[in-house]
This record gives sequence, C-alpha cells and structure tokens, in this order.
Amino acid sequence: MGRIGIFIERYTITRSEEMGALMRYSQVARRLGHQVDYIFRPDMYKIPQYDAIYIRAHTDPLNSSYIAARTAQLNGVRVIDDPDSIYICCDKVNMYQHLKNAGVSMPETLFLEQRDLNLERGAELFHTLSNPLVLKAPNSSFSMYVERVQTPKEYVRVGNRFLRRADRIVAQRFIRSEFDLRVGVLAGEPLYVCQYLIPKKRWKILTHIENGRIICGPVKGVELDQADPRLLDTALQAAKAIGNGFYGIDLKQVDDGFVVIEVNDNPTINAGEEDQKAPHLYERITRYLMGEWGLS
Ligand SMILES: Nc1ncnc2c1ncn2[C@@H]1O[C@H](COP(=O)(O)OP(=O)(O)O)[C@@H](O)[C@H]1O
Ligand SMILES: [Mg+2]
Repeated sequence: MGRIGIFIERYTITRSEEMGALMRYSQVARRLGHQVDYIFRPDMYKIPQYDAIYIRAHTDPLNSSYIAARTAQLNGVRVIDDPDSIYICCDKVNMYQHLKNAGVSMPETLFLEQRDLNLERGAELFHTLSNPLVLKAPNSSFSMYVERVQTPKEYVRVGNRFLRRADRIVAQRFIRSEFDLRVGVLAGEPLYVCQYLIPKKRWKILTHIENGRIICGPVKGVELDQADPRLLDTALQAAKAIGNGFYGIDLKQVDDGFVVIEVNDNPTINAGEEDQKAPHLYERITRYLMGEWGLS
C-alpha cells in the first residue's frame, strides 16, 4: 500500500479524454491497493509526504511541474517525469544532441545560429537537406513552433522569428508520411504504440491549443506484438539516449527503417487513444511508481 500523488493543473482536466485517462489510472492504482490523491499547485508542499508523484501537466523547466519533479527527486520520492528528462526534452537542441551522441537514427538535423540566417545559407540547406525544410524553435510543443519553409526568403523570415525565442534553432530534413508513429517507453520497455494521423492537405499532426484546450487528430492504437521490431528497437534506443523514465517517442518510417522525430517527456495519455491496444499501461505506470518494476 503506497501513497501516490498525481500532480495536475486545471487545464489537465479540461479535456474529457485526458480526464478519463486520469480516472482509469486512479481506479487501477486503487485496485492495486494504493491511495491516490490529486495535487494542485497550492498543495505542492505535501509532495515529500508521498511515495510517488505522477506529473500530468505541461512540463517545462520554467513551470511548476518542474518544481514538483525536483521536490520529489530531492526528497527521494519516485517521480514521473524525472527533472533531468524534463530538462533535456524541453530543449530540442539538447534533446537532438543526446540522440546524435547516441547514434540514434533520425532525419539529418542541424543547429543554426543568427549568422546562418541569410539567403545563401538557406539555398545551400535546401540543396543539402531537403526542400521543403523543417525549422523548429527549441522549446516548441504541440507543433506550435515547427514550420516548413520552401524558399530562402521564407527560411530567413521564419528562422529570424524563431531566433527571437532562442539563440539556436533546429533545421531538419523533411520526411513525408501519412502519420506519426508514437511509441510509449517506460523504464526501457515499450508500453504502447499508436499512430497519430495527419489530416489531408496538412503535414503535421493536428495538435494545437485552442482557447486553452488541446485539439488532436485521430489516433489509432497498434498492438505491441504487431509493431515492427525495428520500430520498437529505434524507439528504445532513443529513450535510452535520454534516460530511464517515461517517454513518447515520435518516429516516421523511411525506406530502410525508422527515424526519430522527437522524444517527448510527459507524453499524452488519453482514454481510448494511447491505451486503445494497451490497457495494461496504467498498471505498469503504477508498478513503476511504486518501485515494483523497472528499478534502475
Ligand atoms: N523532419 C520532419 N519531417 C516531417 N514532419 C515533421 C518533421 N519534424 C516534425 N514534423 C511534424 O511536425 C510535428 C511537430 O514536430 P515536433 O518536432 O514533434 O515538435 P513539437 O514538440 O512542437 O511537437 C511532428 O509531430 C510531425 O508530424
Ligand atoms: Mg511533437
């Protein structure tokens, strides 16, 4: 019997699918004999009293969720997500650098500075990487600061806009596909696989924030044992390059395998979506949090 605190923000419970996943999670954890409480910001001082903290809120080193993660870590409380993973994943330059260092397969990726933002360099990148070219601000999430550019002029304009938010931005080869593949990985093992479908005439999964609500495209679950072993293998390598916690690895299929588009900490879990073909995921998260499984 343990005490689990789920750290949430108000917006976590505005979407019924997200709320549904939290209810499913607490039901499972209670069935396993644990006490489950929701912790809002004003109750953060209670974190040290818990055995484990499960963060379900946007994670960013500048958000209270990071303070919750650090407080848990400093007090020896097991936590998803651990602060080191949050720190790495919330900065795409840092995250891709970890993947590169570990030799994880990914689209060709460069980090650009102000001096790269001229028409000549743009033309060169269209030639050496791809046209269109994908530009990303390091702290993008929900596809907000990820854009496709097709001319050197566009490259300079979007690049300059993104550089207002950071001192380096990411340029990446464009990989065409009908869906993003997502592999959920916990403690170095695959937890679930799903496809996020890209709506027709768009190139990104339709995930954005509208009036404080997160809007997503259709999600299709894939049985773990039906997933391509190369997909799982690449996802596990990517997770290992970051840490030993809970990650959502986004991948795309290419001719000779899979490339990693992003490693997300705090991956979305919506009832009926990520858990579609993985009903065991709530139990696995609970066992991990209680130190019964995946101890590092
Ligand atoms: N190199 C790429 N080629 C094709 N599509 C991409 C590429 N990079 C990102 N995308 C699309 O844009 C979406 C958002 O990019 P991502 O790097 O995941 O940023 P965010 O953190 O904002 O989600 C991805 O889910 C994917 O659909
Ligand atoms: Mg993403």
